[in-house]
Amino acid sequence: MTTDPAVQREAQSTEPPQIPPHRSHDPANNTKRTDPFQFGSRFLEAGDNVFEFNAWDHVEPDEEFKAYAEAQIAKQRETPVSEFDQKRFNNDPAKWWNLFYKNNTDNFFKDRKWLRYEFPVLAEVTQKDAGPQVVLEVGAGAGNTAFPLLANNENDQLKVHACDFSKYAVKVMRESEQYDERHLVADVWDVAAVPDENGNSLPPGLTEGSVDVVILIFIFSALAPNQWERAIRNIHRVLKPGGRVLFRDYGRGDLAQVRFKKGRYMTENFYVRGDGTRVYFFDKGQLIHMWGQWSPEKGLPTPPEDATAESQPESQATAEGSGAFDVLHMGIDRRLIVNRQSKVKMHRCWMQGHFQKHGGPTESATEKAE
Ligand SMILES: C[S@@+](CC[C@H](N)C(=O)[O-])C[C@H]1O[C@@H](n2cnc3c(N)ncnc32)[C@H](O)[C@@H]1O
Repeated sequence: MTTDPAVQREAQSTEPPQIPPHRSHDPANNTKRTDPFQFGSRFLEAGDNVFEFNAWDHVEPDEEFKAYAEAQIAKQRETPVSEFDQKRFNNDPAKWWNLFYKNNTDNFFKDRKWLRYEFPVLAEVTQKDAGPQVVLEVGAGAGNTAFPLLANNENDQLKVHACDFSKYAVKVMRESEQYDERHLVADVWDVAAVPDENGNSLPPGLTEGSVDVVILIFIFSALAPNQWERAIRNIHRVLKPGGRVLFRDYGRGDLAQVRFKKGRYMTENFYVRGDGTRVYFFDKGQLIHMWGQWSPEKGLPTPPEDATAESQPESQATAEGSGAFDVLHMGIDRRLIVNRQSKVKMHRCWMQGHFQKHGGPTESATEKAE
């Protein structure tokens, strides 16, 4: 996986934490595979050989790894990106994503089989009898979500709008063999667009209150923090009352953050990659606060002093929602990735959220208990 010798050394010296046995584990059969395989079901326990499998779910980084991560981040802060370069990367981010899609003409397609398990709403809207459903995927890239969604679709009345602000990404989608115009339209759209003179800031072909589900997978991390407000505003506008937001993105302390070297740090938890694309790493409490408190009148709330996951129990945070969305679920998906050959262990961390715009006929509190 990583070729970074420092990370490899650190990862090797870090013993994986052990968690108590879980009901998914059959001690008589230590393969821990569900059939078909699902993420989130392989747990590392006392006595397991960590190198037996490539990945283990929900492994908390131990104190040693946390200390290593903090030390790395402290080093990154010492050598920030110059102001001149920050402007270059922040002023025209689409330019860097265009270059990315131009330079990587192959191999960016991943068949995300986990989508329907992780986001059951996607299984719902693709059911035969689901009726008219409009899905907007934001920052759709090469179609990593849109195409697998359509591959499993049985709903004649499903329409997917896959938008990206990179015209090259849109070109990749439109030229794909899987591009099926009956159900899919790919368009250029900037989710952080400021309304034009006519008040338009929504994707082509979509009007206010017209979308059932908005998918945000690894897109918010590509925005600068000062773009989140505008992005949430546009998403809120385009959603129907009761419409859902499905969110997955990088979590704080993910290996991708920890391994950034000198000259990549822009501001706290916000970096620029070698190819000029930007990436932010989110915290659970921060996301709950952001989505739970945003309102059209007040915009984004000021972050609390310490909005860490630990400081804000989920029940309290979801209940606090005085904003325009309900935070139905906000979880952390952790995975310990193991390179069995080189015996390297790496901690990955993703945030996964499910939000609902207020006002729908089916507004329910069922998932709040999750
Ligand atoms: C990390 S990639 C993820 C792509 C895709 N969602 C996936 O998971 O494979 C981020 C994508 O967001 C797009 N993007 C970044 N900023 C955007 C913005 N302001 N509006 C729309 N798309 C944006 C980029 O062009 C890129 O395709």
